[in-house]
Amino acid sequence: MDINYDNAKQILKKYNQEHLLICYDKLSTEEKEELIKQILNINFEQILELYEKTKQKINFKDSKIEPISYIDKSKLETKQKEELEEQGIQIIKQGKYAVVTMAGGQGTRLGHKAPKGTFEIGKDIHKSLFEALSDTIKEAQNKYKANIPWYIMTSRENNIDTVNFFEEHNYFGINKQDIKFFIQGQLPMIGTDGKILLNDKGMIKEAADGHGGIFEAMSKSGILEDMKQKGIEWIFIAGVDNVLAGMVDPILAGLAIKRKCLAAGKSVVKNDPKEKVGVFCKKNNKPNVIEYTEITNEMAEAIDQNGELLYGESHILCNLFNIKALEQIAKNKLPYHSAFKKAKYINEEGKLIEPTEPNAYKYEAFIFDAFERLEDMAIMRVKREEEFAPVKNADGVDSPETATKLYIKYLENKKNK
Ligand code: UD1
Repeated sequence: MDINYDNAKQILKKYNQEHLLICYDKLSTEEKEELIKQILNINFEQILELYEKTKQKINFKDSKIEPISYIDKSKLETKQKEELEEQGIQIIKQGKYAVVTMAGGQGTRLGHKAPKGTFEIGKDIHKSLFEALSDTIKEAQNKYKANIPWYIMTSRENNIDTVNFFEEHNYFGINKQDIKFFIQGQLPMIGTDGKILLNDKGMIKEAADGHGGIFEAMSKSGILEDMKQKGIEWIFIAGVDNVLAGMVDPILAGLAIKRKCLAAGKSVVKNDPKEKVGVFCKKNNKPNVIEYTEITNEMAEAIDQNGELLYGESHILCNLFNIKALEQIAKNKLPYHSAFKKAKYINEEGKLIEPTEPNAYKYEAFIFDAFERLEDMAIMRVKREEEFAPVKNADGVDSPETATKLYIKYLENKKNK
């Protein structure tokens, strides 16, 4: 047996995770090497800590939560708007603006067994999410006659399929040099007894570490360095699932600069207290987002003096960061949130178990947990019909059907302008 195997065995013994070698003898030579590499890469202290924290509930009682102030884009005076826009346009024209799309997820909720970005929006629009986003980048490049580098975050699960998809579609007419892919991190999944799971191949069962993994991934993969070398200062980061994401926004950049903030975020008015979106707020005087899973009914329903929801600025995962903020955030890990999921695994007797109920914890960091590391953030309210058409569920709200309707309307409005 080689030294790595012996090392791995010792570590597993120390952390009471020896079952992870149960399938070792049945694996091919490459798989054996890969499994040992996976084990040696696991931070077992972190796993212990994550498992212990899983049982703690989030408690807002010790924090001071307040509504956040925002600027309503539609209420800006023409002169104000032009000033902000002009400042942002300069940034774009000088090549100081880049876009990042977080595309680490699969289209599971949509019943799509491939990277989410490859999902075709709707029957009437034969366009994948990636193609729709490519159109936005191309248009902005033409409009501002500028190079706008586009970075796409994938996961280990979908990286090859994503890159192949862009190859097959000739990068949707964008210069190949302007697009760079990078892979986000992964974390092992843990059973309710604190044991790390093995997947159906006998390897460690890992899952993407959430979109909050973006900061570490950008730093480790050299993307931040690449941006610095290119002289990029402002980076717009959005999810892959919003067809209308206004990714190249000079007004938002202008606003961040004017307010001397290292980050800015777009919001839309929350439809109703129960809508499944996070909302911007201030927590202990720092910008923050409360997730829909974590907000109390009382807070979700509270109304201000104008009859609007007090916590009504929905976070649409469309945020702009200065490179300095990204560098600062990347220095320390974000906290992880746990989700209880159904996960196939091989048990300690070597039997494949396909659970019908959730059985395992998955750990994810959220990008917005980084906001509280910033002094302040400029929030700009935009119109939902212009900037927020997410494709999340197979039907009902935020589905291909609702997104297609909004997208068609948006294309028509653009034609008539
Ligand atoms: C998310 C936000 C919510 C916001 C809403 C707006 C979270 C936890 N909540 O909800 O505040 O109001 O969007 O639409 O994100 N992704 C990765 N890697 C990962 C996980 C996700 O790249 O490991 C990407 C997905 O591809 C997707 C985006 O992040 O583009 C959103 O993730 P998702 O898990 O779908 O978040 P939501 O629950 O929809």
